[in-house]
Amino acid sequence: MGLCASGSRFGPVNMVRVVLLMVLFVPGTLADCQSDLFITAPNTMEALSGSCLQISCNFSAKEENEFNSTRKTFGVWIKTDSRINLNKNNVIYNSSVTVNKYPMNITGNLSQKNCSTLFSNLTTSHTDTYFFRAENGPYRATAACDSVYITIKDSPWSPSIHISAGDLKEKQSVSITCSALTPCPHSPPQLTWNLHPDSDSETEENTNGTFTTKLQQTITLSHTHDGYNISCSATYPVNGGRNKTAETQQTLSVSYAPKDTSASISPSGLLSAGIWVNLTCSSRAKPPISSFTWFKNTKDGPKKVHEGHMYSLEMTNMADIELHYCVATNALGNQSSVGHSPVTEHLSPWGGAVGGIFGFIIFISVVLALWWLRSTHQAQSPVLQEAAAPAENEDIHYGDIDFSMARAGPPSDSVQDGTEQQQQQVAVYSELNMCQTGHSECVYAPVKKK
Ligand SMILES: *[C@@H]1O[C@H](CO)[C@@H](O)[C@H](O)[C@H]1NC(C)=O
Ligand SMILES: *[C@@H]1O[C@H](CO)[C@@H](O)[C@H](O)[C@H]1NC(C)=O
Ligand SMILES: *[C@@H]1O[C@H](CO)[C@@H](O)[C@H](O)[C@H]1NC(C)=O
Ligand SMILES: *[C@@H]1O[C@H](CO)[C@@H](O)[C@H](O)[C@H]1NC(C)=O
Ligand SMILES: *[C@@H]1O[C@H](CO)[C@@H](O)[C@H](O)[C@H]1NC(C)=O
Ligand SMILES: *[C@@H]1O[C@H](CO)[C@@H](O)[C@H](O)[C@H]1NC(C)=O
Ligand SMILES: *[C@@H]1O[C@H](CO)[C@@H](O)[C@H](O)[C@H]1NC(C)=O
Ligand SMILES: *[C@@H]1O[C@H](CO)[C@@H](O)[C@H](O)[C@H]1NC(C)=O
Ligand SMILES: *[C@@H]1O[C@H](CO)[C@@H](O)[C@H](O)[C@H]1NC(C)=O
Ligand SMILES: *[C@@H]1O[C@H](CO)[C@@H](O)[C@H](O)[C@H]1NC(C)=O
Ligand SMILES: *[C@@H]1O[C@H](CO)[C@@H](O)[C@H](O)[C@H]1NC(C)=O
Ligand SMILES: *[C@@H]1O[C@H](CO)[C@@H](O)[C@H](O)[C@H]1NC(C)=O
Repeated sequence: MGLCASGSRFGPVNMVRVVLLMVLFVPGTLADCQSDLFITAPNTMEALSGSCLQISCNFSAKEENEFNSTRKTFGVWIKTDSRINLNKNNVIYNSSVTVNKYPMNITGNLSQKNCSTLFSNLTTSHTDTYFFRAENGPYRATAACDSVYITIKDSPWSPSIHISAGDLKEKQSVSITCSALTPCPHSPPQLTWNLHPDSDSETEENTNGTFTTKLQQTITLSHTHDGYNISCSATYPVNGGRNKTAETQQTLSVSYAPKDTSASISPSGLLSAGIWVNLTCSSRAKPPISSFTWFKNTKDGPKKVHEGHMYSLEMTNMADIELHYCVATNALGNQSSVGHSPVTEHLSPWGGAVGGIFGFIIFISVVLALWWLRSTHQAQSPVLQEAAAPAENEDIHYGDIDFSMARAGPPSDSVQDGTEQQQQQVAVYSELNMCQTGHSECVYAPVKKK
């Protein structure tokens, strides 16, 4: 700590070099620094006005035998310039007296060479360079080479956010830490963050004698964390005023395999055999999708039919179209437009035998529901007749129905409540279902009326 040129340690050549260095880099006072006392303490420290500063400090005498631990030891702090050593104005604290100029207290046991000091009620005017002095009987020495430069600030430090890994990927478990400088461990800052609002912060001592307050949380990343802003704020208690708060934000960037992969068809609306249609695959991924692959379910299993985000094919019938699905791939994985397993699921349940049965069951339920609605509402409402021919404002038509919607079937709550809107939907769905369960000629029937 500090630069100490004592003739015995440097040869003549080195001495010249050291003097040169000191002239270049060190303000005059330390250039001829010689000392019988050394301290270990941070050489620069920052603290907050209205708060306190804990200075971790220990000392040793150059000639250990001159220092007799059984004698009473006093500690003194001197400010500004150690060479004007015992200028009374610069002695701001003397542990042998009860009333001192500065609100300091040596809390360490000086007999154990512990000069740790608590500097309280700080104001910006306390910003200065400080030197420690030990007085042990006739042995009295100032640690002139080991200055402690203290800056008192009015505004608090923003906490810092640290993430245990560099490249973040979904499913990865990472530890996220928010930490704040804690010059005054007796009244540490209170940390809060949006990751886990109830977590408790802990204050710990660093190896260099300073303190840090931390919040830590281990999370398993998912794609929903991508773009998430972590914000952490540190509130420092100060006396005679408002707590001082500073906040930090950090946005997470998480890579993930394709999500929300879906296939859509254009044009929408009326489709007749022989026209060309475009099947388009869309997906969300980070990094972006590197390839889209189209498959068609055949008797012999899925068959690859195309590469690329759009696949143009000639329409034969809708059932044939529905045998297609796409798989989106990026560096982290792939996803099919029919769920997560391209082999076991199909583009549409209507495409396979299982789908046929499923569709039949839905068909029967819708017929039953309609029958029920008709029998319960017959008297008071002409709604069903209206619904059978979809109303002008009902914007549902075949081409708009996403394959995923076809999979999902009619909304389960559509029969529960007798509002006009929902009954209309039931009617429209039932019409589709009838078409889909085998009457392929219905595919071309205009559902939408303009
Ligand atoms: C202070 O204590 C540390 C660790 O115990 C030691 O390495 C260092 O030399 C001591 N400093 C002085 C000036 O004695
Ligand atoms: C002490 O250590 C902490 C954490 O290890 C670091 O943030 C701080 O800058 C260090 N202080 C000094 C004066 O070296
Ligand atoms: C230390 O001081 C005590 C009295 O204060 C004295 O008895 C003892 O001899 C001294 N020790 C040394 C090593 O000088
Ligand atoms: C500290 O106080 C003691 C006792 O009052 C006194 O003898 C000593 O000179 C003082 N030290 C300084 C550096 O003022
Ligand atoms: C220093 O400590 C003593 C006793 O522990 C206490 O009475 C005094 O108020 C403290 N002074 C300051 C400035 O903290
Ligand atoms: C020095 O004293 C402080 C109390 O002010 C204490 O926290 C610290 O642990 C002591 N250091 C050593 C090395 O005993
Ligand atoms: C300081 O340390 C000395 C020697 O280890 C011990 O005798 C004394 O009781 C300690 N003083 C305090 C206040 O702990
Ligand atoms: C610090 O200042 C407050 C008022 O701002 C005062 O009540 C308290 O006694 C002071 N503490 C010390 C150790 O000077
Ligand atoms: C996240 O923070 C950045 C700046 O830190 C800001 O530009 C962005 O709008 C924030 N995003 C959200 C979702 O709050
Ligand atoms: C300051 O913060 C502490 C907790 O750190 C809280 O208990 C106290 O109410 C706050 N005071 C004000 C004036 O906001
Ligand atoms: C299909 O895509 C091609 C190329 O982007 C475009 O020219 C064509 O108009 C599209 N056809 C339909 C029916 O959307
Ligand atoms: C999707 O990923 C699985 C597992 O990594 C792999 O077996 C399969 O071949 C991939 N499918 C496509 C179409 O790339």
